[in-house]
Amino acid sequence: MTAITDVVNLDKEGEIAVLSINNPPVNALGIAVRQGIADGVTAACKDEGVTAIVIICQGRTFMAGADITKFGKPPREPGLGRVLEIIESSRKPIIAAIHGTAFGGGLETALTCHFRVAVDSARLGLPEVKLGLLPGAGGTQRLPRVVGVEKALKMITSGNPIGAKEALEDGLLDEIIKGDLLSGAVAFAETILSEKRPMLRVSEMNEKVEAARGKPEIFENFRKSIARKTRGFNAPEACVKTVEAAVNMAFGEGLKFERQQFEILMKGPQSAAQRYAFFAEREVRKIPDIPKDTPLHDIRKAAVIGAGTMGGGITMNFINVGIPVTLIEQRKDLLERGMGVIRKNYDISAARGRLTPKEVEERMSLVTGSVSIEEVADADIVIEAVYENMDLKKEIFSKLDRICKQDAILASNTSYLDVNEIADHTSRPESVVGLHFFSPANVMRLLEIVRGKKTSKSVIASSMALAKRINKIAVVVGVCHGFVGNRMFSQRTRETDQLILEGPMPPQVDKVIYDFGFPMGPFVLRDLIGLDIGWRKETSTGSTIREVLCELDRRGQKTGAGYYKYEAGSRIPIWDPEVEKLIFEFSEKNNIPRGEISGKEIIERSIYPIVNEGAKILEEGIANRPSDIDVIWLNGYGWPIYLGGPMFWADQVGLENILVTLKKFQERFGDLWKPAPLLERLVKEGKGFKDL
Ligand SMILES: NC(=O)c1ccc[n+]([C@@H]2O[C@H](COP(=O)([O-])OP(=O)(O)OC[C@H]3O[C@@H](n4cnc5c(N)ncnc54)[C@H](O)[C@@H]3O)[C@@H](O)[C@H]2O)c1
Repeated sequence: MTAITDVVNLDKEGEIAVLSINNPPVNALGIAVRQGIADGVTAACKDEGVTAIVIICQGRTFMAGADITKFGKPPREPGLGRVLEIIESSRKPIIAAIHGTAFGGGLETALTCHFRVAVDSARLGLPEVKLGLLPGAGGTQRLPRVVGVEKALKMITSGNPIGAKEALEDGLLDEIIKGDLLSGAVAFAETILSEKRPMLRVSEMNEKVEAARGKPEIFENFRKSIARKTRGFNAPEACVKTVEAAVNMAFGEGLKFERQQFEILMKGPQSAAQRYAFFAEREVRKIPDIPKDTPLHDIRKAAVIGAGTMGGGITMNFINVGIPVTLIEQRKDLLERGMGVIRKNYDISAARGRLTPKEVEERMSLVTGSVSIEEVADADIVIEAVYENMDLKKEIFSKLDRICKQDAILASNTSYLDVNEIADHTSRPESVVGLHFFSPANVMRLLEIVRGKKTSKSVIASSMALAKRINKIAVVVGVCHGFVGNRMFSQRTRETDQLILEGPMPPQVDKVIYDFGFPMGPFVLRDLIGLDIGWRKETSTGSTIREVLCELDRRGQKTGAGYYKYEAGSRIPIWDPEVEKLIFEFSEKNNIPRGEISGKEIIERSIYPIVNEGAKILEEGIANRPSDIDVIWLNGYGWPIYLGGPMFWADQVGLENILVTLKKFQERFGDLWKPAPLLERLVKEGKGFKDL
């Protein structure tokens, strides 16, 4: 065996050269791998005794892409483009032998090989779009030549991989290898040599791209089909344009166009934000004072108290991954209703083909309902999801304290209440933690893990591990009213409520917020989740528009009207002159002068307070780092990923600009707008949140 570089070896199996890459963890295409491939292929080509070359990887995967930590830094030679030229122009056939994932640069490398084989568990894809980029090493030019234009458009703009079977059907693979990959790939090489199969260079395969030439409608229809999903993003359109170039330009020209488009995206703000978000989601797993080897609680059985909106969804998270749940309700009819909702959700998934009827039954068999809280005695974790009422929660926790095993984790799904106060109502506050799921809990990926003053490190570490098991993105936060997400979000709610009294009507505010990049505006959102959350008829005083609407039984979509009205069975909001009249009257009655307010001011007034609150949260140590706050907003509140999150975005806007505007608003509206001291300090020091 000859070592070409530290991470690439060249070997021979009879007349077949085997170029083997071993660059853990994912064989990223760093400089040592690129150099090794370039030199290894060149050496094998020169070797008279070699008739074909197999490129294969050690460890858990084929080359899973470029080294993303090096993105944005000056590339070292040989660049990937040069290496791929060397592979494709080889006079001896090169076979990519794929296992694990061939993603991004990995698949682009495989596409320059003359044949591709894989094990049947392999997955192939070009995920660059998810980082605001496009495949910049020929992927957009070669993939359509192999799988056809429509399939390539779909793969490149979604970034989603396909499995080996599909890849074989699409011609992206030549064979699926059963058994040992290396021997299968070598045998494949011997077969193609003995059959004298023509060597295929993808860059010369023009049939599939020519078939789409002169048919611009293919692209127009495709653009329409992804418009809603990709609203606001630059990369998907650049991907479509480069595939269009593959169809309409000669290969070399197309490659240049791809490079140029790649550079534009790489230097642009959206990719910077998306790459930041990618790293933020990894960073969030690190808790500064909790070592990796902290002992974990063994969680085999769970219990959930309350089978309402949240309890049902939380239960589904556990049974989806095979953890049995005891679900407790206060009455039999409520329990049956809760269980019924869970079953209905699964039945919908089954009807959509996402689950088989057998899987539905398997999952349902993992829930045991009961109206006796004593049944939670053997649970390793209990999650309380009863009404948002401190006295009730205290009562439940003192019962849990009496009933539960000594090492059980006792969690509350409270949205706002003081987890320390709840914990102190037990004899084991170290076992108590907040696990704040988001609605719908079976869908939303965010989980705030609320760390009480006395919560043990092991309970926090176990909650993190559990979150991973149930496919959540967990962020550890401290105790305060509303924790991180809701505390910041209520700032926006307060201000948008105020804005409609001063000038713009809900549709105008909604449009500005939607155009900013949120999935919907605040009033459409309120109608969706219901205006009456936390509202009681008995205590309602008509002191806000929301209360007035609730009193009129306009509680949102569920009652057919809220801020907007809805036709029967429709979710499309229709602006209602009745509400306009009501808002005008409300402003007048409260002596609030109305006038024009620009879109710019709507953004400043609804988003800057979010940033200011974030700064206070950091100062108080409620969040560990600015990027943790951004992870919360990206995954729980619909902040557009191409703007990175409120703290990242604030740095882009410039903290100084934000500070000046906050001070201006402080003069106009009072101390609610007082800038956070941290913001003042960062501006004084010429720093951003990124420097914390
Ligand atoms: N709905 C949301 O969007 C949301 C999001 C995050 C957190 N939360 C929090 O989750 C908790 C539950 O909210 P929800 O929206 O699911 O409320 P919900 O009213 O839909 O459900 C609460 C359930 O608890 C049951 N319950 C009440 N007392 C009980 C008792 N003593 N024993 C057993 N069951 C009892 C009720 O019968 C009801 O079914 C609250 O603390 C809320 O703040 C809600």
